[in-house]
Amino acid sequence: MNATIDLLSSHRSVRRFKDKPVEDALFHTIVRAAQCAATSSHVQAYTIIRVQDKENRRQIAALAGPQLWVEQAPIFLIFCADLTRLESACDRHKLTAKTGWAEQFVVATVDTALVAQNLMVAAESLGLGGVFIGGIRNDPQTVCELLNIPDTAYPVFGMCLGYPDQTPSIKPRLPLDLVLRDDSFFGPGSNEERADSLDAYDQTCKDYYLNRDSNLKDQTWTRQMADFMNKVSRPHMKSFLEKRGFFLK
Ligand SMILES: Cc1cc2nc3c(=O)[nH]c(=O)nc-3n(C[C@H](O)[C@H](O)[C@H](O)COP(=O)(O)O)c2cc1C
Repeated sequence: MNATIDLLSSHRSVRRFKDKPVEDALFHTIVRAAQCAATSSHVQAYTIIRVQDKENRRQIAALAGPQLWVEQAPIFLIFCADLTRLESACDRHKLTAKTGWAEQFVVATVDTALVAQNLMVAAESLGLGGVFIGGIRNDPQTVCELLNIPDTAYPVFGMCLGYPDQTPSIKPRLPLDLVLRDDSFFGPGSNEERADSLDAYDQTCKDYYLNRDSNLKDQTWTRQMADFMNKVSRPHMKSFLEKRGFFLK
């Protein structure tokens, strides 16, 4: 349709990279483009840490899974939601920062996700590939200690980037009638039509998992989601965020 739609539609996570460095100038171009993402009230409440230190990479790769690609990717980034700069702005103008509100947590986390997605797309537009790494939240406190991340900031996820050494098949997304509604959350479609759509999507995903290049499995999307929702994931996050000064009120 056009180059942007084609680029977005050809996204796939990349976990194996060529042994080829990404030049700093190119990387900085990507970050500058990423920064143009919309940002709530212009707060730009994020800080991106490029982790170059080999030992830190090794430790983060281990706590995130282990996920080998965290160690091997030419670039590995940690995206922090960050209120510290906004607090400094208050200090500068001799005002008291009213911190600890859930709304600020949402604002900073959303800003972080927007800049990160822009960064991924900018990187892909230049022939790079990558993958988000939520696995760092297995042990976010250690990530904070390794990277000196202060209170009122927290690592939301990581991201590996580099020149792809694989071309995974594209993972199918939900059909439009399941994610897009007119006028009301429930929209005009009947539940039966939706059930048919979901059945069809289950089959599409099953075919994808049975036929992709690696890690083949016989699984539908709803089964995968049922297993996902049936277990408690990272129960430490609430107290971790509270200790960091988020989510208190
Ligand atoms: C916030 C976030 C965290 C993720 N964490 C991981 C991760 O820790 N390890 C990994 O291999 N993939 C991770 N992924 C990648 C997803 O598994 C992947 O995007 C999803 O399965 C869809 O596949 P695709 O990106 O190839 O289309 C993450 C994606 C997002 C958005």
